[in-house]
Amino acid sequence: MEFADRYGPMAVIAGGSEGVGAAYAMELAERGLDLALIARNPGPLDATADQVRKAFPERSVLTLTVDLSAPDAADRVVALTAGNEVGLLIYNAGASSRSGNFLDGDLEFPQSLLAVNAATMMALVHAYGRPMKARGRGGIVVMSSMAYLVGNPGLAAYSGSKAFSTLFCEALWHELRPHGVHVLSHVLGMTDTPANARNYPGMGGMGDKPEDIVQQALAALDKGPVLRATGGDETAQYLGSLSRDAAVATMYEMGAAFRD
Ligand SMILES: NC(=O)c1ccc[n+]([C@@H]2O[C@H](COP(=O)([O-])OP(=O)(O)OC[C@H]3O[C@@H](n4cnc5c(N)ncnc54)[C@H](OP(=O)(O)O)[C@@H]3O)[C@@H](O)[C@H]2O)c1
Repeated sequence: MEFADRYGPMAVIAGGSEGVGAAYAMELAERGLDLALIARNPGPLDATADQVRKAFPERSVLTLTVDLSAPDAADRVVALTAGNEVGLLIYNAGASSRSGNFLDGDLEFPQSLLAVNAATMMALVHAYGRPMKARGRGGIVVMSSMAYLVGNPGLAAYSGSKAFSTLFCEALWHELRPHGVHVLSHVLGMTDTPANARNYPGMGGMGDKPEDIVQQALAALDKGPVLRATGGDETAQYLGSLSRDAAVATMYEMGAAFRD
C-alpha cells in the first residue's frame, strides 16, 4: 500500500513547528499527506507551515497555537481537524525546559510536563486512534527519551513521564496491531533541535539530525513497538546490566554535562 493510502490523508503533528516536528512536516507533505501543525509560538509555526505550502502547494496545512498542557488542548486540536480523516498522529512535543531537584521547584511545571507527555497525548491517541482502528489502518508515533530507562535525578518528572509514554505505546502497539494500526515509541538520544540548544546552551548542533530521526521512524513504523535512536540500544543494554541503584547513579553522572 502507498504511504498516503496507509497513513493519509491527514497527519497531525503535535509539536510541529521546529526540530523533529518541522522535519516531519516536510517529509510527510512530500509523501502526499495534508497536515495539521500544533505548537505554542506562532512565529516558528507559521514559518514551517509556509515552508511546506511553498514546497508542496497542493497540500493543505492547518495550524493551531495551543499549549498542549491545557486541559482543553486535545479538544481544540480535534476541533481543528474536524471533517478530515487523520491517518497519522505524530506526538513530538514534550521536552523539559527545566531541570533541578523536584522539591526545590514549584509543582506547576512538572504537572504541566506530565499533562503534555501523558494526559493530552492519551487524549489525542484516544480521539484519533478509534477511527483509525475502525478504518483498519493508520499510525501513531510518540516521542520518548532515553530518560525513560532509569529515574533521572534532576529530571524526575520528565523521566517518569517518558517511562509512562513508552510503556503506554508498547501496550497500545499490541492492542492495535491486529487492526492494522501501527504504534511506535521513538526513543531519542541527544537530537539537534532548537529547543535542545535553548535548554542546554553549548549543546547546539550536537546529536542526531531531525531529518534522520524522521527517516528512521518512518522505516520502523510498521514494526514497532520501540525504536531507540543512535547508540540507544547499547546504553539500554549497559544500564540494564547494572543494579537499579547503580543505574540511577550512572544516569546522574551522565547528566553532569547538562547541569554544569
Ligand atoms: N532534543 C533532544 O535532545 C531530545 C532528546 C530526547 C528526547 N527528546 C524528545 O523529542 C521531542 C522533541 O523535543 P525538542 O527538543 O524538539 O523540544 P520540544 O520543546 O518538545 O519542542 C518540540 C515541538 O513541540 C512544541 N511544543 C513544546 N511544548 C509544547 C506545548 N506545551 N504545547 C504545544 N507545543 C509544544 C514546540 O513548539 P513551541 O515551543 O512553540 O510550543 C516544538 O514545535 C520531545 O518529546 C523530547 O522529549 C528530545
